[in-house]
Amino acid sequence: MNIVQSVIRPEILAMGAYPVADATGMVKLDVMESPYTLPDWLAREVGEAVAKLPLNRYPVPSLTRLRALIAEKMGVPEGCEVLCGNGSDECIQFITAACAREGAVVMAPAPSFVMFQMHALFYRLRFVPVPLRPDFSLDVDAFIAAMALHKPALVWLAYPNNPTGSPFSRTEVERIVRAAPGLVVIDEAYQPFATDSFMPRVAEYPNLVVMRTVSKISLAGVRLGYVGGPAQWIREFDKTRAPFNISVLAEAVAIKILENKHVLDEQAARVLAEREVVRGALARMRGLTQYPTAANFICVRIEGGPGAGTAVFESMKRQKVLVKNFSGGHPMLENCLRLTIGAPDENRAMLAALESALR
Ligand SMILES: Cc1ncc(COP(=O)(O)O)c(C=O)c1O
Repeated sequence: MNIVQSVIRPEILAMGAYPVADATGMVKLDVMESPYTLPDWLAREVGEAVAKLPLNRYPVPSLTRLRALIAEKMGVPEGCEVLCGNGSDECIQFITAACAREGAVVMAPAPSFVMFQMHALFYRLRFVPVPLRPDFSLDVDAFIAAMALHKPALVWLAYPNNPTGSPFSRTEVERIVRAAPGLVVIDEAYQPFATDSFMPRVAEYPNLVVMRTVSKISLAGVRLGYVGGPAQWIREFDKTRAPFNISVLAEAVAIKILENKHVLDEQAARVLAEREVVRGALARMRGLTQYPTAANFICVRIEGGPGAGTAVFESMKRQKVLVKNFSGGHPMLENCLRLTIGAPDENRAMLAALESALR
């Protein structure tokens, strides 16, 4: 055994780093980015704001202006607090860290966003997945029964879910929040494409906070996520956050763009309209099933035996279209591909590649 193997935890040695595909020269529809960049006038204003920054200084972690803007523009209710993360990935990390009592349990539907499980592993919490129904809807009775058995300190609910896109029923999610013995985090990463949100009523439940990100609304490169909720929770998460987690660059860029949030809203509306165009085209295609979605992506299952999904994925890749292939991961996602909604020409290329791959 070498020194690395004797020092690093076996479960870390056994895993791989988070996979990010090389998309050079491809139509990139694999990770739910927005296809749209900033208009020139706003890019120029952002550049001017960045040029004035004192890069020799650490950020001021109170982020007063940024947090106030998030509260105002993202509908965080009066009396609630906002805490920012370096992407909502980091929010998942500091929330998990804060809840990491010895022997505590983390629970989430499965399949769902992998980082819920990853951070549970990093902080040595026991992760209990509760399978979705075969149609990817929430099995609320099974979830509540599992909570009664395992008494999770922390429950994650992606609303809508990734990678399935499922718009879980609000009533069912409410039942879970009410029955949970600990904290529930509703992850609304895809809220800009959904019709419902728990943010306006987050203060009505003593055990609830809502997490979001700007990554899906044209700012994935900025790395900014946030948690909104009652001060009693936010105060505790603030203690496990890295002290200067939001760079002065991210702060200044986000402030300038959120002051012009109508630009992001307009881009999200274009993506939403395109989603319906793509859904229509998929409905006319033979050889796949598409699942309901309230996000900026569509999960489809390729018909056929083992390997059918990967064969289509590889064929699309050869045609220079990159989507996400889930075969070989969670068994419920066998033969599933996740198609991010891009700009109209990208979607047309994706649909053409998919259709040709299915032939
Ligand atoms: C459900 C969900 N939560 C959180 C994240 C993390 O987003 P980010 O770290 O870019 O804010 C993602 C990213 O895909 C996601 O799908």
